[in-house]
Parts: sequence; structure tokens; C-alpha cells
Amino acid sequence: MMKVILLGYMGSGKSTVSKMLAEKRQLPHFDLDEMIEEKAGMPVKEIFSAKGEIHFRKLEHELFHQLMERNEDFVLSLGGGTPCYANNHLLFTGENTISIYLKASIAELYNRLTDEKQHRPLISNAHSEDMKEFIAKHLFERSYFYNQAMHAVNVDGKSAEDVVSEVEKLLI
Ligand code: S3P
Repeated sequence: MMKVILLGYMGSGKSTVSKMLAEKRQLPHFDLDEMIEEKAGMPVKEIFSAKGEIHFRKLEHELFHQLMERNEDFVLSLGGGTPCYANNHLLFTGENTISIYLKASIAELYNRLTDEKQHRPLISNAHSEDMKEFIAKHLFERSYFYNQAMHAVNVDGKSAEDVVSEVEKLLI
């Protein structure tokens, strides 16, 4: 039995890598943001604007816990903030669980996020010149939680395929 959890900041490649990994390993794949959207019946961005971040964090916590109680193998991609609220990080070292932090530098995240920030409620209003500062501050606050993962894989300059291969080495 193995539950593989991928975590990391927005833009670190969690969703892409976890989908590819699940396919390669023939495991069910879950994306926590997608599950939250399904439950709420609206996109993450709308949950933030219509109901507020706290509502989002409660749903996130509830669904993550429910998933970890399931008696099955899977690959799960968390949201960028999941590890940092409601003691969610305590589930990273549970039995039959392997948690992996996809670690990206501020510069790498800045480059990846500038093109696609309109879908991300936390950064969609940031001007480009504030973005680096925003990411740096966020990473500073969040690193403690990200570092609770059992492993970290550096993703800077790597393709999703390369990251999947590195993650696979940790699963043996
Ligand atoms: C968030 C990251 C998002 C999503 C929500 C909040 C965060 O997930 O859960 O917008 O707090 O960093 P991704 O990391 O998949 O973009």
C-alpha cells in the first residue's frame, strides 16, 4: 500500500508530475484542488472571491483528511497552501505514505508563474514587480511546512519527465 503525496509552491509542477506518475505507475490520481472544485461546484478562484479563503481552507482540510483515510494506493497532488494550514502537514509521515516536496527557487517560480497567474487567486492581482517579493515572502513563511515532507526533489530547469524519473527513484 502506498499513498504518494506531491507538494510544493504554485507552479512547481505538482499537478503535471502527479498525473504522469500515476499513469506510469497505473495508480489512481487525485488532485486536491479539483476535488475541492467538485465539492464546491465552482472554480478555486470563485471559492476565494465568493466564500473567502477560510472556507476554502476548511474544505481543503476536510477533503485531504478523508482521502488519507481511504484504504487504497494513489498519487495525490496537493494545493500550494495545503501543507501550511490546519496541521495538514502531520499527515505527511503517516503509515504507507510517501510525501515529496517539489522544490523550486524563487527565480524559477517567478518565471513559471508570470505567464499563468490569472488562474491563481493569491497572485492574480500582484503586479509583476511585486511578484518576486510576494513569492519570496510566501516561500519564507511556507518552507517550514514544505520541509516536513519525507523527501525533496529540486525541479529548477527540469522537465516534468525528468522530475517524474527522480520521484520514481524515491518509490523503490
Ligand atoms: C494555493 C495554491 C493553489 C490553490 C489555491 C491556493 C496556495 O494550488 O490551492 O489557489 O495557497 O498556494 P496550486 O498550487 O495547485 O496552484
